[in-house]
Amino acid sequence: MIASRLASAETRADYESIALDYYSSDHATTRNFDDATADYFRTRTEDYQELLSQTTLDIGCGRGQYGEYFPNVNLGLHYEMDTSPSMLSMPRQHRVDGTIRGSALRIPLPDDSVDMTTAFLFDPFNVLPFALEARRVTRAGGVFVGTLPSYDFASYFRVRNDLPVDRTRFVDQHGHAHVLESHISSDSELIARFKNARFTQVQAIPIMLQGKRVPSKHVLSAAAFYDIPVASLSIITMLVCR
Ligand SMILES: C[S@@+](CC[C@H](N)C(=O)[O-])C[C@H]1O[C@@H](n2cnc3c(N)ncnc32)[C@H](O)[C@@H]1O
Repeated sequence: MIASRLASAETRADYESIALDYYSSDHATTRNFDDATADYFRTRTEDYQELLSQTTLDIGCGRGQYGEYFPNVNLGLHYEMDTSPSMLSMPRQHRVDGTIRGSALRIPLPDDSVDMTTAFLFDPFNVLPFALEARRVTRAGGVFVGTLPSYDFASYFRVRNDLPVDRTRFVDQHGHAHVLESHISSDSELIARFKNARFTQVQAIPIMLQGKRVPSKHVLSAAAFYDIPVASLSIITMLVCR
């Protein structure tokens, strides 16, 4: 009874339908993901500086996170791609040389055309055809960097909220729940998939929320479930593939 009532209050959605809500500060867990990623890059921007000054492509870019993750970097040619027109038309904090409305599963760019390919929170399209496309467009010597909600955090959230393992839930400002496709993977699955796509070096790096950040109630509850401090809970998996 409760389950059927819940189902009727939910909509199967895509990101276009939640684009205007997605970046609200009310979505504390997603903001925790963004903050953890920004903190990670803050101390490592130098590692990527050279590639960032060449050709970059951000896939599933949303509103575009380069301004937040790589402030003060002189970007070379920077392209962004998303299926959602509303996401693509949001104002950016950084320069963009071209936007592409299209699918991560069929990237309309030639082979080996990108030096640094990124996909932040790419769980909507974390499937083998995307890994193959990321490999195809990224030149040898370049890098693909992607983030996902960590398997431990996201699987706990889904079980707790009675969601299938490949779905997440987003509640908008009117309290309406949208159910979205979201593929999470264990580190070993991710590494195997991106190696199958012919990346030779694949690293999956756990990222925690730094102490100065305020954890969302979901992050607190996951840390309590695993009986570890928030600072030890990986909330993001950073995938680095060469
Ligand atoms: C979880 S959001 C992340 C947005 C942004 N990268 C960020 O970190 O804020 C996922 C984004 O992927 C886009 N998306 C979903 N499926 C896609 C696909 N098949 N190809 C390209 N973009 C897609 C959505 O429209 C959305 O903007």
